[in-house]
Amino acid sequence: MFFVFDGIDGGGKSTQISRLHAALAAKNETIVCKDPGSTQLGEALRDLLLSKGDMPIDMRSEMMLFSTARTQLVQEIVKPALAQGKFVILDRFVMSTIVYQGHAGKLNPEDIRAVNAFATDGLQPDHTFVLDIPVDVAMERLGDTRDRMESRGVDYFSAVRAGFLAEAKSCDKCTVIDATQTVDQIAASIESIAKEIIN
Ligand code: TMP
Repeated sequence: MFFVFDGIDGGGKSTQISRLHAALAAKNETIVCKDPGSTQLGEALRDLLLSKGDMPIDMRSEMMLFSTARTQLVQEIVKPALAQGKFVILDRFVMSTIVYQGHAGKLNPEDIRAVNAFATDGLQPDHTFVLDIPVDVAMERLGDTRDRMESRGVDYFSAVRAGFLAEAKSCDKCTVIDATQTVDQIAASIESIAKEIIN
């Protein structure tokens, strides 16, 4: 079983991932990973992509680097874990690239889908939870210390939010969660959907 959490920055993914992890761990061995990250190559690419510096990174390069980190994660961790019957909860996946580098970054989402079909060897989540919050709430939650991606302006994040909502609408294995609710309310909805899918 493969669950993904995605959505605009500041939506509270980490908290909800911990809650679902705790809920599922009693049922089955469950691992949590971060995209980009969780492998040596993924962590190195994460540093490169998120650290603020003066190295120019073209949007196409950015898209390929996120996708490369994902390939390593899928090959090294996710596919082997699923093959062993473990549950996997992933913090972001392909939808993030389609939204951040596509809808907001102006690359063609269809090109990104094609690159990622190869990058992930066609692996698709059983379900994706898209945590949605208004852009002004996201900006407030991010505060003043921001990484390279978080430093992009309100217009970029408005396109990110709209992109996630559009992608989720055309996806039958996705649920948009109103992440302005309380942590307990959100966790309860997610847990009930996840358990329904598992059963
Ligand atoms: P995180 O902070 O949720 O771990 O995500 C890292 C940042 O990278 C976040 O701002 C979203 C962004 N991102 C992309 O732009 N494209 C991607 O494909 C992924 C996975 C993340």
